Amino acid sequence: MHWKSLAGLALVAPSHALIRFGCSQLVVQRIDPLVNPGLVPSPHVHQIIGGNSLNATMDHANHDPPTLSTCTTCQPSDDFSNYWTAVLFFRARNGTYHRVPQKANAGFEGQNGGMTVYYMQDQLADYQQQTKVTAFQPGFRMYVGDVEAKTKAQAQQYRQLTYTCLQDMSTRFPETKDFPTAPCPAGIMANIRFPTCWDGKNLDSPNHMDHMSYPESGTFESQGPCPASHPVAMPQLMYETIWDTSAFNNKEDWPEDGSQPFVWSFGDTTGYGTHGDYIFGWKDGALQAIMDDPCYVSCSSMKTQSIEDMNKCSLAPVVNEDLDSWLTTIPGQSMPM
Ligand SMILES: *[C@@H]1O[C@H](CO)[C@@H](O)[C@H](O)[C@H]1NC(C)=O
Ligand SMILES: *[C@@H]1O[C@H](CO)[C@@H](O)[C@H](O)[C@H]1NC(C)=O
Repeated sequence: MHWKSLAGLALVAPSHALIRFGCSQLVVQRIDPLVNPGLVPSPHVHQIIGGNSLNATMDHANHDPPTLSTCTTCQPSDDFSNYWTAVLFFRARNGTYHRVPQKANAGFEGQNGGMTVYYMQDQLADYQQQTKVTAFQPGFRMYVGDVEAKTKAQAQQYRQLTYTCLQDMSTRFPETKDFPTAPCPAGIMANIRFPTCWDGKNLDSPNHMDHMSYPESGTFESQGPCPASHPVAMPQLMYETIWDTSAFNNKEDWPEDGSQPFVWSFGDTTGYGTHGDYIFGWKDGALQAIMDDPCYVSCSSMKTQSIEDMNKCSLAPVVNEDLDSWLTTIPGQSMPM
C-alpha cells in the first residue's frame, strides 16, 4: 500500500505514528504457544509479557486475547498481545548457570523486568515516500529468527536481530549480530525487529515466518518497497530486552580462554540463534487507530495504565521448576554445555 500517488497532496503534514512502551514481566517459564502449542513444558525457557490469557494453547479460532484476558503487563491498556523471547543465562567458571535478570529501559523505571515494545512506521523526513501501514489483524502471529543459527551468515538472513553492549542506559550503537565479547557495564540489550511486509492473506504459516517478508531491499527504515508476494506494509514491531548483567561482569568469573560467558536458554553461546515471538491481541481497532494518528511516541490515541497496574498483572507458571538458583543444567537442555 504505497501512497506515493498522493505525494504532495494529502501528506502535507507528517503522519509519524510511532509508539514505544514498556511491558512488565508476565511470567518466565517453559511454554511456547506459537512454536510448540500444547507442549508443557516446551523445549526452552521464555520470558513473556502482555495479556494474562497467555496459555500453552492459543488457537486463534477460539482464543481471543482481548476477550479472555483480565489484565495486561503492557502500558497500553488495550494491548493484550503476547510478546516473548528466550532467556539469557550466565555460565560460571565452575560450570553452573544463573539466570540473568531483566531491567526496565530508561524512562520506564519501576517496571518489573519485561521489555520495551515499539510499533513503528516511516521515520524518514521524506514525506513524499510515505507508506501507510496496516495494523495486524485478530489471530495474527509471527516469529523471527533461527534457533539453529550457528554462523554469522545464517544470522544475517534476519536483517535486524542484534545486540547492543550498554556502556550506559543511552548507548544505542554499535549493534552486533553476536553476543558482546567484553563486559557491558549497563547490560546487554537484545534487539528484535520483525519483518514488515505481509502477504495480506495468512494470519500464520507453518514456520510462522513465510506469511511475512522483509522489504525487497534494505530495511524498514530505508523504505525498500514490499515485494509483490507480500504487498501489505505493516508496522515494524520491535522488542528491546535489557539483560542486567551487572552481577556477572567481573572478568575473574569469565572463561579463562577469553570467550564470553552468556548462553541463551536453548544452548546458544554465539548469540546468532536469537529469535522473537508475537501473538497479536489488541482490542478492537485500537492499534490501527493509533497507527493512523499523526503522533510520535507520545500518542494521546493510546490509552495507558500506570506502571503500578502493569506490575500487578502476572501469571503463575504452569511449569514449576527452579530457574533462580545456580543450576547444573539449563532447564530443558539435558546435556551440560
Ligand atoms: C490452555 O491450554 C491447555 C493445554 O494445552 C488447553 O487444554 C486449554 O484448552 C487452553 N485454554 C484456553 C482458554 O485456550
Ligand atoms: C559456582 O560459581 C558461582 C559463581 O562464582 C558461585 O556463586 C557458586 O556458589 C558456585 N557453585 C559451586 C557448586 O561451587
